[in-house]
Amino acid sequence: MLTPELEQALNDQLNRESYSSYLYLSMAAHFDGAGFPGFASWMRAQADEEHVHAMKFFDFVNDRGGRVRLQAIAEPPAEFGTPLQVFEASLEHERFITRSIETLYEQADRSTQAFLAWFLTEQVEEEKTVGELVDAFRLAAGSGPALLLLDRELGARRAAGGGEAEV
Ligand SMILES: [Fe+2]
Ligand SMILES: [Fe+2]
Repeated sequence: MLTPELEQALNDQLNRESYSSYLYLSMAAHFDGAGFPGFASWMRAQADEEHVHAMKFFDFVNDRGGRVRLQAIAEPPAEFGTPLQVFEASLEHERFITRSIETLYEQADRSTQAFLAWFLTEQVEEEKTVGELVDAFRLAAGSGPALLLLDRELGARRAAGGGEAEV
C-alpha cells in the first residue's frame, strides 16, 4: 500500500506528465500555424509520449492499491516565439520534470523507487535529445533554408521512428 503522502505525490506527477502532453500539443499547434509541419509532428509525437508517461503513473497507483485522482490540467502557453525559443522552453520544461522526479524519488518507498528508475533514465535521454536540438537551432540562427532543412529532418525522423523520442 502507498502512504497517503506518496499517493498524492504520484497523482501530482501524473498531472505534471499530463500537463507536459498538453504543453507539447500546444507547441505542435504553434508550429502548425507557423508553417513548420515537421516540427509540429515532432511535438505531437512528444505529446503522445507524455500521455504514455501519465498512464504509467495511472497504472502504478492502481497496481499499488492506491486511488488515482485526476486534477485539472493547467492551460499551456499558446505563443512561443521562434523555433529556437520553443525548443529552449521545451528543454527548460524537461529540466523541471527531471527535478520533480528526483524529488519524488527521495520521498518514495523502494517499490516506487524501482518504478521511478525508468523515468530517471528517460529524463537523461529527453534532456540530451532536446539539448541537441537547441544546439542545432542556435547554429541555424534563424536562417530560412536551415530551418526548412531541420523541419524536413525532424518530420522525416519522426515518421521513420514510429513515434520514438530520438531526434
Ligand atoms: Fe514525461
Ligand atoms: Fe518529457
